[in-house]
Amino acid sequence: MNILLTGGAGFIGSHTCVELLNSGYGVVIADDLSNSKIQVIDRIEEITGKRPVFYKIDVSDKPALDVVFKENDIDAVVHFAGYKAVGESCTKPLKYYRNNLDTTLTLLELMEKYDVNSFIFSSSATVYGADAPVPYTEGMQTGGCTNPYGWTKYMIEQILKDASAANEKLSVVLLRYFNPIGAHSSGKIGEDPSGIPNNLLPYITQVASGKLSELGVFGNDYETHDGTGVRDYIHVCDLADGHVLSVKYAAEHKGVQEINLGTGVGYSVLDVVNAFEQANDIKIPYAIKPRRDGDLPEYYADASKALKLLGWSAKRDLKAMCRDSWNWQKNNPNGYEY
Ligand code: UFG
Repeated sequence: MNILLTGGAGFIGSHTCVELLNSGYGVVIADDLSNSKIQVIDRIEEITGKRPVFYKIDVSDKPALDVVFKENDIDAVVHFAGYKAVGESCTKPLKYYRNNLDTTLTLLELMEKYDVNSFIFSSSATVYGADAPVPYTEGMQTGGCTNPYGWTKYMIEQILKDASAANEKLSVVLLRYFNPIGAHSSGKIGEDPSGIPNNLLPYITQVASGKLSELGVFGNDYETHDGTGVRDYIHVCDLADGHVLSVKYAAEHKGVQEINLGTGVGYSVLDVVNAFEQANDIKIPYAIKPRRDGDLPEYYADASKALKLLGWSAKRDLKAMCRDSWNWQKNNPNGYEY
């Protein structure tokens, strides 16, 4: 079976590519490299001994994407491609709506043309919105997102539900990610943010390497066990395994399934700092800063549906996530730029 990964050179896409190749699937990547590096393809080959087919294209460029479908016998699509910076989505909302919705529509039109009927979508826990009670369960109402990035995920979920309702052959899995961190245990692929990182773990690893002087902890007055924000961190390789099982599931079922990919356990910012220090024997200096706009105090997954439907649960603990994140950063201080 051949799987098309849009955005397959990115953080989650590259780890999913490795697990798909290791599971015997053929992989075709379509990525415009706007937030990823071509070197990742060599690294994937170093890890797996197999090289994915690669197209440097914008997924919303329909003639270019048509060539990908024409030249490859695609059986399923995993759609990672999309802009994902929450803050930027507030200042450039049209860029986010245009890109994230266009890529999805273009893909769906070509899937119909080429009779490809499995669609796995990179959604996010952010679709549960600001007022949802924890733990988040898939049956809960979605909406009430706090930024345009979140709304694009919400809207794409709706587009896929409508497309599935109108086409009984189509199988859709909406994977709602919690907070992916960690890296492949080889240290050859990992998260490579451009500029100063927005997310917690890349920030911590750059403090550990001395690139940044201290971590700012955004608020210590939330109603959580130590006052700092609580999230459900999940190892990116566990997340990748969830995609492999979803591809299998989509091939055997029709209709739409929303599935949380999280561990079901919440850790605070200071829990993560402590776990990182212990796992790697490195001190992380930090200072308490004001709350960051748009941040929620605490959320984590109810992960039982993934177990029931896919037979999936997270295997790697917070210590492994911190160790692997650091192993990647230490081996690649400048990411994929040697
Ligand atoms: N945090 C800090 N300091 C930092 C960075 C983050 O204290 O320098 C804190 C945040 O306040 C939050 C926690 O660390 O409490 C996690 O923050 P991240 O930025 O790593 O992740 P978010 O939970 O804000 O966002 C993530 C993804 C989004 C997604 C969202 C909801 O980055 O794409 O989860 O699923 F929309």
